[in-house]
Amino acid sequence: MADKFDYDVLIIGSGPGGYVAAIRAAQLGLKTACAESRETLGGTCLNVGCIPSKAMLHASELYEEAHSGALEKFGVKVTGTKLDLPQMLSEKEKAVGELTGGIEYLFKKNKVDWLKGHASFTDAHSVKIGDKSYTAREIVIATGSSVTPLPGVEIDNAGGVIVDSTGALSLPKVPKHLVVIGGGVIGLELGSVWRRLGAKVTVVEFLDQILPGMDGDVRKEAAKLFKKQGFDIRTGTKVTGAKATKTKATLTVEPAKGGDAETIEADCVLVSIGRIPNTENLGLDAIGLETNARGQIEIDGEFRTSVDGVRAIGDVVPGPMLAHKAEDEGIAVAEWIAGQVGIINHDVIPSVVYTMPEIASVGLTTEEAKERGHEVKVGKFPMMANSRAKTNRDTDGFVKVVADAQSDRVLGVHIIASLAGTMIAQAAQAMEFGATSEDIAYTCHAHPTHAEALKESAMAVQGKPIHI
Ligand code: FAD
Ligand code: NAI
Repeated sequence: MADKFDYDVLIIGSGPGGYVAAIRAAQLGLKTACAESRETLGGTCLNVGCIPSKAMLHASELYEEAHSGALEKFGVKVTGTKLDLPQMLSEKEKAVGELTGGIEYLFKKNKVDWLKGHASFTDAHSVKIGDKSYTAREIVIATGSSVTPLPGVEIDNAGGVIVDSTGALSLPKVPKHLVVIGGGVIGLELGSVWRRLGAKVTVVEFLDQILPGMDGDVRKEAAKLFKKQGFDIRTGTKVTGAKATKTKATLTVEPAKGGDAETIEADCVLVSIGRIPNTENLGLDAIGLETNARGQIEIDGEFRTSVDGVRAIGDVVPGPMLAHKAEDEGIAVAEWIAGQVGIINHDVIPSVVYTMPEIASVGLTTEEAKERGHEVKVGKFPMMANSRAKTNRDTDGFVKVVADAQSDRVLGVHIIASLAGTMIAQAAQAMEFGATSEDIAYTCHAHPTHAEALKESAMAVQGKPIHI
């Protein structure tokens, strides 16, 4: 079908958006190429994001459980625990290598050509990679995002003193004092990793609460639990500058609303104040494609940009910067290009923070539901009253179901619990099927499972939970 073009589809970027789009397009019979400038496929997520961070979260949790004496109450005595950080880092790299290699295998299996190098547009149907040019009937921008820089705080991952998430995933030694700038997802996940491994962790957050965008009750509970774990959380505080030597950094901070400045010393600083879309050096000028005020590429319901033949997906377009959102957009864009209808429901995209406990959410927060004019009914069930959480001694947190008071339709579910990331899938599925809280309340849940807390929370919306 490629006729006058080299390819039917050429995708720029092989992250979860790009590689999934490429595989789907090839499965649908389209001649497909994917340009990637990294040495390995898989984008931010597989190389320096979701995968290595989850590997470090898992390993550091095992270490903390063994080292802290937490296992003793279960009758498991562990003595002489030692941290072997190089081994931990190498196991993480092994997982990354297996998964990025897996994408390379899938590309070969599906006959997707990997065009190695940095691609930039020369016109709407052509890109240049090095000294070669490739043409395609449709080009999909899936270039992802990079860390937002903080003026006055220079990131130097190789130096290891002021780092971004990529540097913080590979620190060669456990810092004594890690200061995290930004109390969002990356700050709390990677802060958890290094706290568990022995660092004192201070989180400096500009707003007056951590985890912006999450449900208000969840934000409060999360701050309480993280403080209990030993995090020093300084909200309403801004960093105005940083000086670094080879071994330490001195940060100047002051109240966000103005006031006296003070300094904080740290041997490591993690800058995690959000991410910005990658559109630099992409040749957008050559095709007359502009970005919006947030640097994103605007698209329509079929992922079409304002330029004919050019579509965009993933972190580079508006919406949450999440791997599964990018993946589902990847499938949908390939289906549109193949002449099918590609579906993704942007109202039901779960998000998970993989701390302990995990924090998961789907749909509207209570605050958003009210802002949109819903009269809401809320049901909340504490993990303390869940029998499986009791047996496992992981009773922190709760499940909260937000439903429309008139229709009883579930508008949002917010969970803070050890298995929140797994539990949220059921809530997403229920919402996708238009469930009411009564539907969840009358669904038989296996006992004893953490998932029963979702059922009881839905029963609480109905006003009749059993176990509280
Ligand atoms: P990316 O994954 O960023 O991939 C874009 C790719 O395009 C990159 O490989 C880049 O090299 C390549 N590229 C860019 N420009 C060009 C060019 N001009 N030519 C050739 N190649 C180019 N999300 C979750 O859902 N769950 C998580 O647990 C999670 N954890 C994360 C942890 C960290 C530390 C970070 C940083 C992010 C995490 N994310 C997580 C977010 C997730 O990684 C992103 O949402 C996701 O990777 C976006 O996918 P994408 O395909 O849009 O772009
Ligand atoms: P974030 O948006 O989650 O958090 C950034 C935090 O920094 C916010 O709390 C913000 O108020 C604060 N902030 C902004 N400017 C500041 C300043 N000058 N000083 C102090 N605080 C400041 O961004 P983060 O953590 O960098 O993550 C980026 C993206 O990566 C997120 O959008 C997230 O979706 C994605 N991600 C997802 C993960 C997951 O799904 N588990 C894990 C890690 C990242």
